[in-house]
Amino acid sequence: MSLLKLGQSVLMQFEPETAHKMTIKALKTGLAPIPAPFEHASLKTVLPKSGIELSSPVGLAAGFDKNADVPSMMSRFGFGFVECGTVTPLPQDGNPRPRLFRLTEDRAVINRMGFNNEGLDVFVANLKRYRGKAKLGANVGANKVSEDKIADYETGIGAVFPHCDYITINISSPNTPGLRGLQDKSALTELLTRCGASVAAAESANGKSKPVFLKLAPDLDSVAIDDIVGVVEAAGSWLSGLIISNTTLARPETLKSEYKGEMGGLSGAPLLAPSTDVLRAFAERLEGRFDLIGAGGIACAADVKAKLDAGAHAVQLYSALIYEGAGMVDQINRELAVSA
Ligand SMILES: Cc1cc2nc3c(=O)[nH]c(=O)nc-3n(C[C@H](O)[C@H](O)[C@H](O)COP(=O)(O)O)c2cc1C
Repeated sequence: MSLLKLGQSVLMQFEPETAHKMTIKALKTGLAPIPAPFEHASLKTVLPKSGIELSSPVGLAAGFDKNADVPSMMSRFGFGFVECGTVTPLPQDGNPRPRLFRLTEDRAVINRMGFNNEGLDVFVANLKRYRGKAKLGANVGANKVSEDKIADYETGIGAVFPHCDYITINISSPNTPGLRGLQDKSALTELLTRCGASVAAAESANGKSKPVFLKLAPDLDSVAIDDIVGVVEAAGSWLSGLIISNTTLARPETLKSEYKGEMGGLSGAPLLAPSTDVLRAFAERLEGRFDLIGAGGIACAADVKAKLDAGAHAVQLYSALIYEGAGMVDQINRELAVSA
């Protein structure tokens, strides 16, 4: 058993959020034994619209490193891109604990963290310290108490713009009341109009452009998908693509774990098929005009291929790390390279 895998099975003995805090602390020391990541020319990926060049199509999804404490260390596991956040303008505690549950029998997770984070000032200071090969993403959101949620995205975009490789506008967390309502046609139109203006202002202030992605929920029917496609196509060239998807509010019949009734967003294995279906629906409608990043339930190279086959240009994962440990990234990269 590798040291990484051993560390991961020890962590499984602890309450999930405690285990996560221990992981971030250990990574922050910079002493974790991480072997040099596997690299291969066949893993290199260029996202067609944004032109982002990745050393691997496999990225770390948002939520693991909410405060951008350890992106340099996470880069060393072989991720092609590492997305930090979600960050909100002001620090906030999130929901009361417990708020993170392992559904071990289901290889799944339920979380209702509620954007616990230390706020933009700490986040930006941490982004500035980033040294790594992986492209650095900054995922921005809105504070729970904000009345004008869109203003929080405008603030976030302006603050992170100079300090990352791409920005994600996250309107799909189920744990901040009203957030997912921003996916509705008229709210989304207003969001993208105002965020587009913030991006344009940041572009001229910084003298460079920056790819921006919109992160969506998997809980969308075909009417909602058509509406979103219409709005994003009208948004203008500043929007590079979509990340599909965040966690689901659905609870498949197949779930076995005692925690399946907990409130929050479900992720991990049971999300693979539904999130891939929604990804495919967007890919069919967008026909390559936007970059698509697939997330939801990825635990092995075959899962990555399923997302790529459905139309993703790159993928992200989080929940499987809890069960497999970060060594899984290297394993996936090796398998992808062999089958390339
Ligand atoms: C504990 C936890 C916290 C998360 N926090 C965030 C977040 O802050 N922002 C976000 O955009 N997505 C967040 N996510 C969603 C993930 O980024 C990802 O979209 C989702 O979990 C599906 O991928 P997975 O099945 O590989 O985990 C979180 C997921 C988990 C499990």
